[in-house]
Amino acid sequence: MQEQFYKEALSADIFKYISEATEELQLESYVIGGYVRDFILQRGNAKDIDIVTVGSGIKLAQKVADLLPNKPKVQVFKTYGTAMLRYQDIEVEFVGARKESYSENSRNPEVSEGTLQDDQNRRDFTINALALSINKNSYGKLLDPFNGIQDLENKIIRTPLDPDITYSDDPLRMMRAIRFSSQLNFKIEDRSLQAISKNSERIDIITKERIVDELNKILASDKPSIGFLHLEKTGLLERILPELIALKGVEEVEGQKHKDNFYHTLEVVDNISENTEDVWLRWAALLHDIGKAPTKKFHKKNGWTFHSHEFVGSKMVFKLFKRLKMPLNNKMKFVQKMVLLSSRPIVLASEVTDSAVRRLIFDAGDDIDSLMTLCEADITTKNPKKFKRYHKNFELVRQKIKEVEERDHVRNFQPPITGEEIMETFNLKPCREIGQIKEAIKEAILEGIIPNEYEASYEFMVKKGEELGLIIEQ
Ligand code: CTP
Repeated sequence: MQEQFYKEALSADIFKYISEATEELQLESYVIGGYVRDFILQRGNAKDIDIVTVGSGIKLAQKVADLLPNKPKVQVFKTYGTAMLRYQDIEVEFVGARKESYSENSRNPEVSEGTLQDDQNRRDFTINALALSINKNSYGKLLDPFNGIQDLENKIIRTPLDPDITYSDDPLRMMRAIRFSSQLNFKIEDRSLQAISKNSERIDIITKERIVDELNKILASDKPSIGFLHLEKTGLLERILPELIALKGVEEVEGQKHKDNFYHTLEVVDNISENTEDVWLRWAALLHDIGKAPTKKFHKKNGWTFHSHEFVGSKMVFKLFKRLKMPLNNKMKFVQKMVLLSSRPIVLASEVTDSAVRRLIFDAGDDIDSLMTLCEADITTKNPKKFKRYHKNFELVRQKIKEVEERDHVRNFQPPITGEEIMETFNLKPCREIGQIKEAIKEAILEGIIPNEYEASYEFMVKKGEELGLIIEQ
């Protein structure tokens, strides 16, 4: 029964070719790592296959390429002793079984040839050390020296060796442990958590790109708070995203408290993850309150305030992206925009006027739906009455947005009267008045004084020009 199940894991064509090549070269080969793990968890067909062979992974890859009908190109990474080829939509990576020893300041180990067992020992987690034989005489046999299967069943992240060694050898694994726990909803073994806390400073030797890769995977998981709570408890978050740690804690002055904005943020991220897969919108949820730490003040009369935290927060997004070497492109601008506008619909929810809705659509443009999704996720009150009321108000706001949008078309606002037309009408050279008139027309449309139409805008322009003492060219 079990054997049949594992053979199914190896039913794709590619395995037959690897098996054949292995036999011809008289090697021993195994599928190992994520492919086996995800097959057992039935997480869909993985497109990345890792092959470990006792011998040269590069030679095996070349032999496999020779046997394959399309003779794919083999990419060789000499420094790492690995090779990669693509077949159909599958990416296969080959490595020779190895022993690794690490030094203090580097993730790059000294490598020597080893047995399958040596290779399994150097793996990060028991659930990633599972290997399936693709040798003809034992095709489909599972090699599980650390009880990885049991850990899969019990949903546990555990290292094959002393966790202190596994994490210190390669500190990226601290992020991976936390990412897997968030992705798979697995528990991290206590010893492992302690070792991560102990080694957290070593995350500093990992490149920002790899850290961000893991952060993105945590954010993409069903319940990202699992990952972020681990990051916080182990001290990793402090080193990666101190802006979030600064939101932690509740202060009380004269009997007045504010909410703990760190835990609130995590709730918002979990909420939004139920409604969007867009990882950038999830980033926006994660960062929407970061401006609250530097803007927090206590006023005797008003209590706790966070004036202009949205503006300050959106500026912080740029610095944070830059520090983490994240792309400073439209995605970042989107996150900034969401943070900047994050309180706008909330203000609206108490009084929904047409002009306020028009302004919101004007400012948010095509991102208006994302913004509403963010604001709805921001409702974390534990008071069921308030919860219901806020959601209902947002429903009204959404409804109003639809109505106003259908009527006034201000989403991607194009001024109905161009600067050139103003210049021609009043026979003007470039001057301040042109901008003033354009701005006045836009304001009149947004305020609902005139409709978003040419005729009305033209009349308004004439009137405004007269007010400014301009004369119409006949
Ligand atoms: N591995 C490791 N230590 C790392 C990275 C990877 O021991 N820092 C090992 C694990 O056995 C892992 C395998 O290399 O299963 C392949 O790594 P990778 O492709 O990065 O991850 P997967 O486990 O396949 O999972 P995912 O694709 O979700 O990242």
